[in-house]
Amino acid sequence: MPETEKVIELAKRRGIFWPSYEIYGGVAGLYDIGPVGARIKNKIVQLWRKIFVEENSDFVVEIETPMITPSKVLEASGHVENFTDPIVECQKCHKIYRADHLIEETLRLSVEGLKPSELTNIILQKGLKCPSCGGELGEVRNFNLLFSTTIGPYAGYVGYLRPETAQGMFTAFRRVFESTRERLPLGIAQVGRVGRNEISPRQGLVRMREFTIMEVEFFIDPEDKDVPQLERYWEEGFHVLFKDAKEKGGDPVRVKVKDLVSEKLVVNPWMAFWMATASRFVKSLGISEGSFYFEEKLPHERAHYSSQTFDQIVKVMGEKVEISGHAYRGDYDLSRHSRFSGEDLSVFKKFDKARVIKKRSVILNRDRLRQEDKDFQRELMKLISDKKPEEVEIMIKAGGELMGRKLSDFLSVIEREEKEHGIRFIPHVVEPSFGVERCLYLSVLNAYREKKDRVVLSLPKEIVPYHVAVFPLLEKDELKERSRKIAGELKQKFEVLYDESGSIGKRYARVDEIGVPYAITVDPQTLNDGTVTIRDRDSWEQIRVNEGEVLQVLEKLFSGADFNMILGEAKR
Ligand code: ATP
Ligand code: GLY
Repeated sequence: MPETEKVIELAKRRGIFWPSYEIYGGVAGLYDIGPVGARIKNKIVQLWRKIFVEENSDFVVEIETPMITPSKVLEASGHVENFTDPIVECQKCHKIYRADHLIEETLRLSVEGLKPSELTNIILQKGLKCPSCGGELGEVRNFNLLFSTTIGPYAGYVGYLRPETAQGMFTAFRRVFESTRERLPLGIAQVGRVGRNEISPRQGLVRMREFTIMEVEFFIDPEDKDVPQLERYWEEGFHVLFKDAKEKGGDPVRVKVKDLVSEKLVVNPWMAFWMATASRFVKSLGISEGSFYFEEKLPHERAHYSSQTFDQIVKVMGEKVEISGHAYRGDYDLSRHSRFSGEDLSVFKKFDKARVIKKRSVILNRDRLRQEDKDFQRELMKLISDKKPEEVEIMIKAGGELMGRKLSDFLSVIEREEKEHGIRFIPHVVEPSFGVERCLYLSVLNAYREKKDRVVLSLPKEIVPYHVAVFPLLEKDELKERSRKIAGELKQKFEVLYDESGSIGKRYARVDEIGVPYAITVDPQTLNDGTVTIRDRDSWEQIRVNEGEVLQVLEKLFSGADFNMILGEAKR
């Protein structure tokens, strides 16, 4: 059985995830997250909040906005027009495929971002047929991935399930800006469900039709390139496959954050900040630096709103999966929402000191103009109405004429000094966007180990479903009672799984499989000398400690102490 299938089997068996509506045959792309999976998923979201929001709480806030989105919003964002994937239908069996994926999988060609007509040509030229029945494939056309609905009982009031949380942050931008410090940079974060009507999802949690996204829309002044917050990451590095190397079939190279910024490999230093933050987050899921890289997207591969995008790719069990996307969205979204809503979404930037600017203006010699006929007066006004003072000045200097009369007799341009206290501009946006279920899936794949025919999920402590398990060794009332008492005490500080059923071997196996790092066992010796055992998930080693010390030992272990070190201390 391929390794990923073993993980999927484990996920079903141990309550991590499984296909939704299974009793009715299931629906592709829809998954339930089980009791263990929900605990891990919540931890992943907490960890993201800590790293993306809390550690930057001076300039990042979190909000919640609806899933149901009126059509107008997604027309403004460009999704109604552009949020599409290419599909192709078999003329014989009428099966529908995602055209670019079909070509990529069968012909091993990279065709991301090509137009439907270009994909149709490739299918014709290469003689590609339906993989299911061998029939002829039709023309490739675009399919919109938005799930549509109506809002209320009005058939004409079309709404969609949001495909990203981002639009909620753009439409709420002014409110959030005004209710916070009215200062940039400002990050608006959101964790929420999204819907994408993916064409033929077959890859489990990697391609779902409804999933949870964690995004920050980070609003900046594009002129302000000073990012002191970058200092914390300055010397750190990660692997990046830049677009030039990618086009030549090259490999990712390791770059330091300081080089990304100083060599202008990113369009704005904040891109490097969020990529470094994303690296830290992915490493805290247990995925080592060597197992992920950022891939710069080529222009035709980027989403319609982006002028630079890096996808963060995780390599695990022979799979390469995008875990996050980092897009420079510029002023695309706020400008479009300004235009479509008629609301001004610009912000005012006050200068530290008022700036004196030189302003040219056109002066009309009215006395002289009054002596001319009405036709001439009208033509002259028409001539200058849509011209900048600088353009009028050029015409005058070049000795320009109108209806045989010299412009300089009627017009002059003067320069005046004016004070400007600030300017209005539309903020730009940098966006790091993570799919939570992909984080869950990749963390589980990455943690999967086999040891002596048993499975161990070596999840990092930050994302384990329970901190500790407590077991009575045998089905004896005194042992059960003592175990429940210990479990009750530990619950004040830790997340505890108490289990008294089945053989102890099976119970250890179960907690290993769901990644619980420690198990405490109460045995007959406990009744004599008040000691219990603590077993380590990864090494299966055990130490015996006094019941009263368990809490302290666990605290040490969770603040970074190594189990072997504690084992050594216990043996001395
Ligand atoms: P892909 O190229 O894999 O379709 P995408 O580029 O469309 O993904 P984004 O639009 O950048 O993805 O979405 C942000 C993040 O949301 C992705 O990095 C990924 O973690 C997650 N994601 C996107 N689509 C799905 C999906 N269908 N199922 C689960 N997670 C998804
Ligand atoms: N907000 C980016 C995306 O999900 O496409």
